[in-house]
Amino acid sequence: MYGIIFTFLKEYVEERHGGNETWRTLVKATTGQEHKIYFPVVDYSDEEIVGLAQTAADALGLPLPVVLEDFGSYVGPRLMSFYPMYLKDGLDNSFDMIIHAGANIHDAIHRHNPERKPPHLSAQRESDDVLIIHYHSHRKLCHVVRGIVRGLGERFNEKLTIEETQCMYEGAKECIIKVTKS
Ligand code: HEM
Repeated sequence: MYGIIFTFLKEYVEERHGGNETWRTLVKATTGQEHKIYFPVVDYSDEEIVGLAQTAADALGLPLPVVLEDFGSYVGPRLMSFYPMYLKDGLDNSFDMIIHAGANIHDAIHRHNPERKPPHLSAQRESDDVLIIHYHSHRKLCHVVRGIVRGLGERFNEKLTIEETQCMYEGAKECIIKVTKS
């Protein structure tokens, strides 16, 4: 995964879990390096980012999925502010944002740099208040997806219920996430 996601993880740990001291401790415990810097456009191993999240989960005494989901809720709105060039006019609610990300943004990122391997994501409205998201990735980060959805809901002041109706961790080919707006 590209370094920018590590930058977001660093910001997340610093903002929500005790500042730069905590981040340095996590990096040292995971990589053995005291002052490792992640460069945004360098590709790092997927294991390393999950390793950092696992070390954070251990330190916080929380299950890894909980930490990944909380990180997702931080990163959803952050992706929007960091990549304004991938947005379009009229994205004023989470459903349109997620549909646009699935239909256009990740593909555009991959086209721009084929080395980048964003997930396969698609989303369709089942009705005005129900969105069905299909997610597939070898990284199996459906907990991050759920968090991103939650974070976007908060960003747009919406009340969302998120339910994973099918999951790769239970042997399915892809995860399906149903989002209901109330
Ligand atoms: C402003 C909107 C978005 C932008 C600019 C964006 C961009 C990106 C980028 C740059 C990556 C890293 C790819 C790599 O390092 O190869 C990524 C990964 C990811 N994105 Fe998005 N994304 C957006 C919205 C979303 C949404 C709405 C979801 C889900 C609802 C999502 C789910 C994910 C997940 C789970 C990953 C981790 C990689 C994986 O699962 O394989 N993204 N995204």
